[in-house]
Amino acid sequence: MEKRLEDSIGWMDEALQKAILTIAHLSADMRYEFPEKRGATTTKNIYGETQQKLDVWADKILTEALLNTGSVRAVISEERENPTTGPGEYVITMDPLDGSSNIKSNNIFGTIIGIHKEKELLVPGKKQIAALYVLYGPITSIVMATEDGVCEYDYEERKRSYYLSREGITLPEEGKIYSVGGGNEGWSSPFSSFVDSLVERHLKLRYGGAFVGDVNQVLNYGGIFCYPETAKKPQGKLRLVIECNPMAFIMTKAGGAASNGHGDILKIKPREITERTPVYLGNKDLVGELERALR
Ligand code: AHG
Ligand code: MN
Ligand code: MN
Repeated sequence: MEKRLEDSIGWMDEALQKAILTIAHLSADMRYEFPEKRGATTTKNIYGETQQKLDVWADKILTEALLNTGSVRAVISEERENPTTGPGEYVITMDPLDGSSNIKSNNIFGTIIGIHKEKELLVPGKKQIAALYVLYGPITSIVMATEDGVCEYDYEERKRSYYLSREGITLPEEGKIYSVGGGNEGWSSPFSSFVDSLVERHLKLRYGGAFVGDVNQVLNYGGIFCYPETAKKPQGKLRLVIECNPMAFIMTKAGGAASNGHGDILKIKPREITERTPVYLGNKDLVGELERALR
């Protein structure tokens, strides 16, 4: 008998279950709106990036629904300058739509969620109690990490439910792919040499332009995802709080490593919501090798 998401998280307290199920079911329904909400707005987010209609809409409906659960004390969203506060106990970090540039080309994109219940809003990623991403791929799926490990759930349209498709997910021993964000302009020479060595070892390039999709491939096939610092972007591009911490939590729970090039990303105390970080996620041996190369 297939296990439903609702049954799989039955061990959690009510408030947390409510928050997670709200995200899961709302994101499944969001897909129906995607075709008519493609295209850009005339507004920019706090990072100066032009917002896609879907960025703004997904942020709005997810934030409102989360606050209505009564489970949430604050939502920290990529699309808002300040946290939105509520009466509950959980803090939700959210990239409502990750991979916005893929909307135009109909490539994979997703939603990234981190959950903690610390007093402070900005805490190191290791304080998260759960992290998940929704993948709007051929299958709408959720990959979620909790203290118990990493599970994947597939959404079955006809039954309007998510069912456990994999549990105890761990990275394959040997990494098969590498995925490097941005262009190669301004890479440090140690980083360039590291990438060259991956090619020499016949790892295959897999880069799709959405953090969720690219990290999901590393989770499935093993290897490494990098969005490195460059001469122009010494802090890289990806956001520590709303993107890197949840994905680092998931990768670490799957037996991998998550580094900013010098150490464990999950140990970094964020100074501000908008903080960016270079990010390297994947097999421990490859991340360790890269850290040594960048010393
Ligand atoms: P978002 O759409 O939330 O702004 O995130 C886009 C990010 C991330 O998903 C991806 O890894 C990266 O931007 C791609 O950047 P490049 O286009 O520079 O490769
Ligand atoms: Mn993103
Ligand atoms: Mn986004």
